[in-house]
Amino acid sequence: MHISVLGTGYVGLVTGACFAEFGLNVLCMDTDPTRIQKLNQGEVPFFEPGLTELVSKGRKSGRLEFTVDLTKAVDNGLVIFIAVGTPSRSDGSADLSYIDEVARNIGSRMTGYKVVVTKSTVPIGTSERVRDLIKSHQTTSVNFDVVSNPEFLREGSAIGDFLRPDRVVIGAESAQAVAIMKDLYRPLYLIETPVVVTNVPTAEMIKYASNVFLATKISFINEVANLCEQVSANVQTVAKAMGLDKRIGSKFLHAGPGFGGSCFGKDTAALVHIGEQAGYSMQLAHTTKHVNQQQRSRMVDKIRETLGILDGKTIGILGLTFKPNTNDLRDSPAMWIAEQLIQANCTIRASDPEGLEEAVTILPELVACQDAYEAAEGADALVLLTEWNQFRNLDFDRLKNLMRSPTLLDLRNVYDSERIAGYGFYYVSVGRPSTGTCTHSDS
Ligand code: UDX
Repeated sequence: MHISVLGTGYVGLVTGACFAEFGLNVLCMDTDPTRIQKLNQGEVPFFEPGLTELVSKGRKSGRLEFTVDLTKAVDNGLVIFIAVGTPSRSDGSADLSYIDEVARNIGSRMTGYKVVVTKSTVPIGTSERVRDLIKSHQTTSVNFDVVSNPEFLREGSAIGDFLRPDRVVIGAESAQAVAIMKDLYRPLYLIETPVVVTNVPTAEMIKYASNVFLATKISFINEVANLCEQVSANVQTVAKAMGLDKRIGSKFLHAGPGFGGSCFGKDTAALVHIGEQAGYSMQLAHTTKHVNQQQRSRMVDKIRETLGILDGKTIGILGLTFKPNTNDLRDSPAMWIAEQLIQANCTIRASDPEGLEEAVTILPELVACQDAYEAAEGADALVLLTEWNQFRNLDFDRLKNLMRSPTLLDLRNVYDSERIAGYGFYYVSVGRPSTGTCTHSDS
């Protein structure tokens, strides 16, 4: 079967490459000629483990092609995936202008039956809007279906998430569209992946409800962590014991500096906005977002309390991306915290395996360091903000010799607190008792 994917951003490219891996013929379209030219040379425009290899495999097999030609993309695919961006507006609502433009273009270029699928996370009702726009821009009346097929891809493990998903959600109104969509995902029947078939608004809601629930889980454990600090409890043990209850589950219960990335903040704001539009106040979603912002500020307070004063201090930051195994800095807590520390007149020596180059273009005050040891040189404290593997097994004797004061703020709770204190460090983490001796005279 031939399919087309409109948009070669994160979701579009992973979707296209993975469907080619499933044996489908995929044409990926983007309006950016430079991006398409690079993709035609096998160059993937962002870091995602395994994606370059998958794109190259798809191109070699002849099943994965790239174009800037929208008419060709509309003609090519029986199924057309819309995977263009839906950025957040300042009021939290999603900006649907790219989706609208694509829908109008599909309508005016369509000459035969198509299944048009929204893959981007879109507000409830968007597929309906896509249907109306296609219909009103058709030059000849052609039958088509609109389907919602949300993605649940995590950056850093997107290929595994696509090829071995927990579930596939298909929101459609016609049996023909459901049959075609099921056919696309046929390889997943072998691994018995559950397929949820429902109507379009329910499919759209599943995506928001899933993401905002996960974000809420994180804000909840972060609040528990903050309380643990007040009552000398240990959040890691609390989370472990909570997670053993199968009704709760152990995932997304890691306390830290709060969630970031392109999805959770945007989707939480969008759900609040969708609630307002529908006349229902989504209070938990609202609070989840508020607690997340507060958590970032608390991390800055924690660093200030540890060092006494921030003015004039040198701080080594380990990790800038919003999580490991990505070069994505969007809405990263680490970047927000680094910016606050710069504003408080700290010198920030930062290291990140994939995000450093872009980070210094956003925050030119950052002193770019090749690794944790360079970041530690002359530092009053090291702050671990993103739990890259490179930062999980540091040589603390070496770090101690490089630093002005052996202090580690482990804001991802990576290390065993007693062990780090054993190296002569003052160790501060999130929701766990601090260990070692604080040597900062100002604090
Ligand atoms: C998320 C969803 O997981 C995915 O299903 C959806 O399609 C897109 O959004 P992603 O943004 O790639 O994926 O990252 P994810 O792994 O979910 O982490 C999001 C943020 O939460 C990161 O900043 C991470 O550090 C943070 N997090 C995650 C925690 O702070 N604690 C946890 O326990 C888990």
